[in-house]
Amino acid sequence: MLSVTNLTKRFGGFTAVDRISFALEQGEILGLIGPNGSGKSTTFNLIAGTLAPSEGSISFLGQDIGGRPPMAACHLGIGRTFQIPRPFKRLSILENIAVAAYYGQNGQISRTRAWEQAEEALNLVNLPSDPKSPVDGLGAAGLKKLELARALATQPKLLLADESLGGLDEHEMEQAADMLSLIRREKNITIIWVEHIMGVLMRVVDRVMVLDHGEKIAEGLPREVARDPRVIEVYLGSEEIKIADAQGDAGGDAGGDARA
Ligand SMILES: Nc1ncnc2c1ncn2[C@@H]1O[C@H](COP(=O)(O)OP(=O)(O)OP(=O)(O)O)[C@@H](O)[C@H]1O
Ligand SMILES: [Mg+2]
Repeated sequence: MLSVTNLTKRFGGFTAVDRISFALEQGEILGLIGPNGSGKSTTFNLIAGTLAPSEGSISFLGQDIGGRPPMAACHLGIGRTFQIPRPFKRLSILENIAVAAYYGQNGQISRTRAWEQAEEALNLVNLPSDPKSPVDGLGAAGLKKLELARALATQPKLLLADESLGGLDEHEMEQAADMLSLIRREKNITIIWVEHIMGVLMRVVDRVMVLDHGEKIAEGLPREVARDPRVIEVYLGSEEIKIADAQGDAGGDAGGDARA
């Protein structure tokens, strides 16, 4: 579905993403992890068209999309959430999602259909607030759900979920993990999930890719990656070792406080 080759992003003399290559199969959930500033959000911004690559290529469903604008990526079926949610503050929860549904499909759907799709997306994320209420009453977890609903309302084939902002407690994190599993199962959406808390992520994803200083330092099954000496070194000092237990031990400690 997605093929990234030698993707590089430089800001002046600083290289934020350094020749990373990876591929993604339809239906997969890929976890993208790495310490603060390792290039995770920049990678999303490159795939979603918010930033143009300095070098390298991005192919999505056979089309070369590197450097194309965000609107083009969205209309081709790439939905993304932003690490820092910025909803339209004067619109209600449902209106925010309906805007995403309508413009995300290039205005090719009726307004009625946009409302329906907004409601479907809202149901998927299970936001308990009144859909007609303003967004300013939402806390961190609610804003994350709204962000996810807006991305889903664009009817993506690939969802880039940038969840790495703190503010969620462990229970909310686990809910977010279950939600992404559900989205894949029910809607057949392929997902790349950025998260800091490795234990929760490791239980849901099929594969993990680890970035450090913009470089890919590991990729593979969660179990393998958790044992990789370079990964352990990068996460040294935290409780990362628990991630090995979290995987394959569904009832066990999720290592929820293993932070980058
Ligand atoms: N527009 C920009 N201009 C200059 N530097 C940038 C820009 N965007 C990101 N960077 C830098 O690139 C590096 C990677 O940032 P990025 O946001 O991709 O990290 P991240 O892995 O998402 O981190 P976090 O876990 O904190 O979200 C950081 O050093 C950041 O300061
Ligand atoms: Mg980030």
